[in-house]
Amino acid sequence: MTRTIVVTGTDTDVGKTVFAAALTAALGATYWKPVQAGPGSGTDAGDGDTVRRLGVTRVLPEAYRLATPCSPHRAAAIDGVTIDPDRLALPAVAGTLVVEGAGGVLVPLSDWLLYADLFARWRAPVVLVARTALGTINHSLLSIEALRTRGVPILGVAFSGDAQEDSEATICRIGAVRRLGRLARLTTLDADALARAFAAGFATEDFA
Ligand SMILES: Nc1ncnc2c1ncn2[C@@H]1O[C@H](COP(=O)(O)OP(=O)(O)OP(=O)(O)O)[C@@H](O)[C@H]1O
Ligand SMILES: [Mg+2]
Repeated sequence: MTRTIVVTGTDTDVGKTVFAAALTAALGATYWKPVQAGPGSGTDAGDGDTVRRLGVTRVLPEAYRLATPCSPHRAAAIDGVTIDPDRLALPAVAGTLVVEGAGGVLVPLSDWLLYADLFARWRAPVVLVARTALGTINHSLLSIEALRTRGVPILGVAFSGDAQEDSEATICRIGAVRRLGRLARLTTLDADALARAFAAGFATEDFA
């Protein structure tokens, strides 16, 4: 039976892929990015390539690879494609599947379907990746509300960035969510450094 953990975030570029890579590697899991819109940052061809570079060995192909780096609903329209939620059913794998969304929880996949609605269909626990930087309390609490409104189970918040004790505690207190840990900002981002940072910031058993 496949166990699934969904990695979402408060925004684009908050560190979902880096966190998902660390989590997938730590659990010996399989990574899946169902919808990739445009190439990834830097020289990467997408988040799947990034997680491979960061030590993940099992990466499933995307259900949709879209050309334009923008919201999936728009990227799909530009490519003349309609994203069919039935093609986004969770694949069965041996062990754990780590699934990464795109952008934040209310990013549209089509005219009416939002990522948070898809998460609700999947019924899998979600990790919210949140920055520690200024603005994160508002973004995190809004994201938590949107997930709760749809009955999406929240495993907890994974912070990304330099320690901001008050912001992290405030989000977890008011949002009534678990603080899973924090991934420090790394100057050298490679598989070894990431594995060490994940081990220092998180307890793997919290995801088991
Ligand atoms: N802990 C970290 N240390 C150093 N750099 C990081 C860390 N986390 C993220 N980054 C960098 O920040 C940028 C955004 O991170 P990432 O690609 O993980 O964001 P994302 O939330 O997955 O974005 P998207 O919405 O495009 O999928 C990347 O250039 C990544 O290398
Ligand atoms: Mg990403």
